[in-house]
Amino acid sequence: MPDPVFQVRRAGRADASNLAELAASTFRDTYFLISDPVEVEDYIRTNFTTKLLEEQIADDSATFILGSIGDRFIGYALVRHSVAPDCVTGPVPIELSRLYLEQAFHGRGYGSALVLASLREARERNGQTLWLSVYSENMKARAFYAAMGFVEIGARDFLFGGRIYNDPVMSRAIPQRSHHAPP
Ligand SMILES: CC(C)(COP(=O)(O)OP(=O)(O)OC[C@H]1O[C@@H](n2cnc3c(N)ncnc32)[C@H](O)[C@@H]1OP(=O)(O)O)[C@@H](O)C(=O)NCCC(=O)NCCS
Repeated sequence: MPDPVFQVRRAGRADASNLAELAASTFRDTYFLISDPVEVEDYIRTNFTTKLLEEQIADDSATFILGSIGDRFIGYALVRHSVAPDCVTGPVPIELSRLYLEQAFHGRGYGSALVLASLREARERNGQTLWLSVYSENMKARAFYAAMGFVEIGARDFLFGGRIYNDPVMSRAIPQRSHHAPP
């Protein structure tokens, strides 16, 4: 039998509890070794409840994109309208606020599929610039984003676990539909 394909779709209210579980486990896997584990668990407890995710999914200013293989969710992205830091000077900015994939599925092109889906979603929201911030110690993610065409343009302060981190900010243009494409 062929491998089941990786599929992406927008999340709906019914996905909240699965998404909460995926968000918690991928956040833990990502930051467990590069941050304080107690602060990581605190963050998970306060940010990834089913109730909060239900509210965020229902919020029109954001879209969760779910990546799955068969009936198993293995990754997600969050695209949202937000206040961009001053270093984001590109036109009509939209934030790629989260992007996480289960560890067992890294390095197979699924992360880039989630970025492409995020660019499409941002374009449908009339965005022209996709920006993000990333933990400075997360070298894998910084290299990945550079490979996906994001360029470091500055930094912003991010409060995590009672400390302020200066996170690099990256951005790239959102490809627009060509008006000159053949029919
Ligand atoms: C970051 C993440 C989404 C990347 O997804 P992925 O599926 O592993 O990446 P892909 O296989 O799609 O790689 C896409 C491109 O990035 C490059 N890339 C991926 N990881 C890389 C790394 N560690 N170093 C250098 N390049 C890397 C690949 O070579 C590929 O480039 P190519 O198309 O030129 O060959 C994934 O590793 C992840 O979920 N990490 C943990 C969560 C996290 O850190 N999220 C970011 C929070 S800001």
